Amino acid sequence: MADDNGMSAARAACIEDLRRLAHRNVPREFMDYYESGSYAEETLLANRADLSRIKIRQRVLAGASGRTLDSRILSEPVALPIVLAPIGMLGMGWRDGEIAACRAAQRAGVAFTLSTMSICSIEDVAAAVSKPFWFQLYVMKDRGFIAELIERAKAARCSALVLTVDLQVLGQRHRDVRNGLSVPPRLRPATLARMAMKPRWVAGLLMGKRKTFGNLDGRVAGMSDVRSLSEWTAQQFDAALSWDDVAWVRERWPGKLILKGIMEVDDAKAAAKSGADAIVVSNHGGRQLDGAASSISALPKIADAVGSDIELLFDGGVRSGQDVFRALALGAKGCLLGRAFLYGLCAGGEAGVTRAIRIVASELDVTMALAGVRTIGEIKRGCLQE
Ligand code: GLV
Repeated sequence: MADDNGMSAARAACIEDLRRLAHRNVPREFMDYYESGSYAEETLLANRADLSRIKIRQRVLAGASGRTLDSRILSEPVALPIVLAPIGMLGMGWRDGEIAACRAAQRAGVAFTLSTMSICSIEDVAAAVSKPFWFQLYVMKDRGFIAELIERAKAARCSALVLTVDLQVLGQRHRDVRNGLSVPPRLRPATLARMAMKPRWVAGLLMGKRKTFGNLDGRVAGMSDVRSLSEWTAQQFDAALSWDDVAWVRERWPGKLILKGIMEVDDAKAAAKSGADAIVVSNHGGRQLDGAASSISALPKIADAVGSDIELLFDGGVRSGQDVFRALALGAKGCLLGRAFLYGLCAGGEAGVTRAIRIVASELDVTMALAGVRTIGEIKRGCLQE
């Protein structure tokens, strides 16, 4: 693989190629943050293992021309049934990473979700892109600040609010604790030595708009220098989060509301009654409740119970178009890509995210052809082996 970042990412054949490039480019503590699952990482591994166990039925001589990946998510037309998931600290993987990823998503005709814990702020991204994006919200103890964040998302014309409901306390990621992950990075000798090996990353970040969490800086105590991300999260996030808070957010946000982090049928039923427009069947990429089932194993039960009452999105281990096909067949309207696009970003910025989206689109297209379907709507449970 060539050394030049953009060129290499452009030539990546699959998401795994982008992942390898990402590890070459970005210092270890940040890749550790992105890659980690919580505790023993059993759920992280289960997400991938259970997806790849699902077998797609090969169909032949069915006439596979004239295929289209066009579909709708939350009534909006999309060029393929994916959304870029909210990921904290994208801007530590690439200079102004949130803007780069949002631009790539918009050019590809899919939605981008900005995390509350982003480096570029809502306003930075809104000023740099031409179309609306989604905003992900964490409910912290300071409800005044959360109400303000909702107003900022409205002012920025965000087209959906993704309320994360599975991070009321933080699942420990051992590597973050061992690395003493802090934002901006604490310049200890070991960190400096690792950064010296990634000069392009250092140069890029020095030119970036911000070095800490853009949405929170100056508004939440201790934000300009988060000495320990896990301790800070424990102080700020609200363990008392409940369905009353969902109602509180629903009252303030008139647009599309998505609850992310639903794994159980009873919770999905409650979500459908809460006035939310969609849920994301998700275990937070294996980063929260370790020992939880894979998110793909939860999807069909939830689809059977509430699939006709509320729109279902899915995440957890999606690394290919084949994975998107599997989740769609099991009832999802679309998949959130998390690490898959993040690797592209860390490998080559906007061009790398574009490459990641194209890889998944092309894999989905070929999978559809070989499975004998021409439209996204035709991807059904019958496309999978029993
Ligand atoms: C935040 O969403 C995290 O998983 O670290």
